[in-house]
Amino acid sequence: MRALSIVSLALVLLLISLAAYLRLDHSGIGCTPWPECYGNIGTERDAVALHERLLEDATSARSWATPMHRLVATVLGLLVLSLNVLAFREKRNRSASVALLALTLFLAIIGVVSGGLHSPAVVMGNILGGFGMLALLGGMVFQKRAPHRNASTLTKISAIALLLLGLQIAIGGLTSANFAAAACRTVPDCHGSWLPGSDLLKAMDLSRRHAVADNGIVLGGAERADIQMLHRLSAVATALLIIAAGLLALRFGHDLRIVGAALILLVSFEFFVGILAIVTDLPIGLAVAHNTLAALLLLGLLKLYAESRCSEA
Ligand code: HEM
Repeated sequence: MRALSIVSLALVLLLISLAAYLRLDHSGIGCTPWPECYGNIGTERDAVALHERLLEDATSARSWATPMHRLVATVLGLLVLSLNVLAFREKRNRSASVALLALTLFLAIIGVVSGGLHSPAVVMGNILGGFGMLALLGGMVFQKRAPHRNASTLTKISAIALLLLGLQIAIGGLTSANFAAAACRTVPDCHGSWLPGSDLLKAMDLSRRHAVADNGIVLGGAERADIQMLHRLSAVATALLIIAAGLLALRFGHDLRIVGAALILLVSFEFFVGILAIVTDLPIGLAVAHNTLAALLLLGLLKLYAESRCSEA
């Protein structure tokens, strides 16, 4: 069961990166001329443009990423089914396995019925569903048999950091779902402002469908800059807490020291990649790396949490 969980974990990690690549490529991230071409998802009314888009897809990078995504997702689905059979036979990790299966079905259903990845609800469903599967598998792989009864300070800090990271990933997803990557092109301020404005709630409204201009470009307003500013501010809080947890872990034994050091490196790298992406007009490689690093951070924190529960307080 452990071997199956580890292979599934690796596949989810791959799937999260592939899905980000497909989604971001389709939304035109880092296209040229930037940012005029960003958010060009085409209009369904424009049959010619749609046809051209399909032809273009066959020759674009998506021509290899789409079948690979399907293949990995299918193998993962079979592994999740096997995990459930084993979980019930061995009477271990039953709720986590059922939750994994539910998330797999949820992602398969939105993949089939969404007909496109661009409504905020669909984008968020994809991102949170993928990261949710990663968290469940990470929990299964890293779990320890005999945790201490009293949580140490490190366990408490890593639990809070996990919550904050989850929130930060969701806000990153909203930034992407609102096509807000080009809304602030200066760092650290956003064209002179430092705080999100009053349109922030609009960016969080998942019931919306984006309005699309006649030329196929998604329309948006001030909510784009607002959500990106929130993402930047919450990144500072998240990074500080993860660094604090990492520094605290350096005082413990060998295993915790390694996880702590890795977390400090990972979060610094994630922060750096976020800024670099903005100042270099968001090449897709950096945007996908930003997503993959977020997934690795989540795994690192889950490992820290699990290890710290078995270390002396
Ligand atoms: C702890 C630190 C951070 C984490 C965990 C994080 C995580 C994420 C995630 C998960 C996404 C969604 C990516 C996707 O759609 O595939 C995202 C998007 C984004 N992040 Fe971050 N982020 C962090 C810090 C930053 C920083 C410091 C900046 C820049 C100053 C930044 C800029 C962006 C931008 C512009 C997007 C939207 C680009 C896109 O559509 O991919 N992030 N972030």
